[in-house]
Amino acid sequence: MLQERIAKEQPARSWSEYVVPQCWEAFTAEDHAVWDLLFARQVELLGSRVVSAFLDGIDLLKLSHPGVPDVEGLNAILEPRTGWRTVAVPGLVPDEIFFAMLSERVFPVGNFIRTREQLDYLEAPDCFHDMFGHIPMLAHHDYAEMTRHIGELGSAAIAAGEGHKAARLYWHSVEFGLAMEHGELKILGAGLASSFGEAHFSLESEALDRLPFSVERAVNTPYKHDAFQPRYLVSQSLETTVGEVMALNPEQLLAL
Ligand SMILES: [Fe+2]
Repeated sequence: MLQERIAKEQPARSWSEYVVPQCWEAFTAEDHAVWDLLFARQVELLGSRVVSAFLDGIDLLKLSHPGVPDVEGLNAILEPRTGWRTVAVPGLVPDEIFFAMLSERVFPVGNFIRTREQLDYLEAPDCFHDMFGHIPMLAHHDYAEMTRHIGELGSAAIAAGEGHKAARLYWHSVEFGLAMEHGELKILGAGLASSFGEAHFSLESEALDRLPFSVERAVNTPYKHDAFQPRYLVSQSLETTVGEVMALNPEQLLAL
C-alpha cells in the first residue's frame, strides 16, 4: 500500500535496497492458519462483489492453496503472464521507492502477516493485504500495465514536487476504486478487496458519497489513510479506469 507518511530524510539510492528475503520458511503454522482464516473469510464476504478480473487472478495465481503464498511461487506464474513480479519488503516503503518499483513492474509485499488478535486492524499493510488485495489484479494484462504507468506518473510527479497528485490517483483507483460491471457496482481497489469492514461499507453504506471516477476528480480528491473513506470514485468500468489513466502523461497530471 502506498504510504505518504514515511519520512524521506534518507532516500535510498535504489528500490532494491528495500528488498529482503521473504523467508517463507519462517512463517509459523499459526501464520499460515491466519492466512487461511483471512482468505476464507474474505472470499466468502466478497462473493461476486468484486470485479471479475480479481476473481480470475485468484484462480490463475492459485491463491486458494492453503497457507501464506511464497513470492517465488507467485512469480513463477505472474512474471511469464504480465511481466510483474513480487518482492518481499519488511514494511512500508517511501513513496518514491514504491512508484519506482511499480514503474519496473515490481510489487512490494510485506514479509509478515497480522496476528489472529489483529484480524481487522492493521498499522501497516501485511502480506494478506498485499498478496490477496493487489496481486490478483496484476495478472490482468491491461490493469497491470496501468499500474506500471502509475509508477511512471508517480516518479515524475515526485520529481516535480507534486507527489500527492499521483498518490491520489493511485488511491482512488488501485486502492479504493469502485467500478461498474454488467450494471452492478463492484469493488475494484485492493484496499477494499482485502478489507473485511470496508468492502461492504463502500458498496452498501448510504453514509458516504460515490462520485463518478475521472482522473481529474481523483487527482483533486483528498483521501484518508487511517479511516474508511468518506467518498469513493466509481468508474464506468475497469476498462474505463485503465483507458483514462493510460491516456494521462506526466505533464497532464501535473496540470490537473
Ligand atoms: Fe495497498
